[in-house]
Amino acid sequence: ETPEQLAAFEARIAAGEKIESGDWMPEAYRKQLIRMISQHAHSEVVGMLPEGAWITRAPNLHRKMILIAKVQDEAGHGQYLYHAAETLGTTREEMLDALLTGKAKYSSIFNYPTLTWADIGMIGWLVDGAAIKNQTMLAGCSYGPYSRAMVRICSEETFHHKQGKEMVVAYAREGTPEQKKMAQDALNRWWWPAVQMLGPSDKDSPNTPQLMRWGIKLKTNDEVRQEFINEHAPELLEAGLTIPDPDLHQDEQGNWIHGPINWEEFFEVIKGGGQMNRARLESRNRSHDEGAWVREALNAYEARRHAQAAD
Ligand code: ACO
Repeated sequence: ETPEQLAAFEARIAAGEKIESGDWMPEAYRKQLIRMISQHAHSEVVGMLPEGAWITRAPNLHRKMILIAKVQDEAGHGQYLYHAAETLGTTREEMLDALLTGKAKYSSIFNYPTLTWADIGMIGWLVDGAAIKNQTMLAGCSYGPYSRAMVRICSEETFHHKQGKEMVVAYAREGTPEQKKMAQDALNRWWWPAVQMLGPSDKDSPNTPQLMRWGIKLKTNDEVRQEFINEHAPELLEAGLTIPDPDLHQDEQGNWIHGPINWEEFFEVIKGGGQMNRARLESRNRSHDEGAWVREALNAYEARRHAQAAD
């Protein structure tokens, strides 16, 4: 890497050009993108587990169909993202191996259990709401394949967000006393993990400076977190729910200021010590093993097609 190459690369980013897969890029840019995009892909795939667990227990056909569609969408998001990472020179096998052996990270949020049906609504509202804030920013990122994947993903996430909000608002406003209680209990358990999932505070975010310098992130973790809270706090309150943060208040600029975040819990979860880390990995490994015959069949089919083409 010469200083001239780096300067030309940074000039392209400053001019708002997208970097494409065959273009010259610094090795650290490539590595950062592979890290982020593969973690993001893993999050989509592991994220199917807490919700998939409720498909058989959806309260009616309408909600069941929505949930099935949503879980399928997450599988599709994982696919786009693995493809986007592959454009940078990594392979699907390497990425999956890192996930299945526990070396790779995936979002902290998916290491919490879904205890009641209201959790499904709350995940749509809060978790997809937080993901959209982060991903709308990433849709403007400097790497073309990632930014284009984000545009499509965000439009699907918007549907996920709306269905979650509609469900929780229905339970919280017009529900039976049990449904109201269930919605509040879900908020009590999901609020802080959703606030945390946008990443550590800026002072403890070692990757942010380099990611911002190269236009991969356009905002810091705390900036995105503030946007998320500003949108969601008033809407949750309007639904008649209580946000489990006694310090939450609005400042003179209109920002909703949160109380202290339990970062110890967050770092414990991303180290693998969350409530569901072990179960999630076991489940992914089981599915992978059970799918071995599909991969073998695909390989056999490909080998035969190649042999026939060569004849
Ligand atoms: N869960 C797990 N690990 C996390 C989380 C989280 N919520 N937030 C940060 N981390 C990890 C980072 O990956 C990094 O670890 P690493 O260097 O070993 O990879 C470490 O904590 C320090 O954090 P940062 O320096 O702040 O990391 P970064 O600048 O990459 O910011 C963020 C983290 C905001 C998650 C960024 O990587 C990102 O935007 N990723 C793409 C979006 C994404 O992955 N979303 C997943 C959830 S969306 C969904 O699936 C519905």
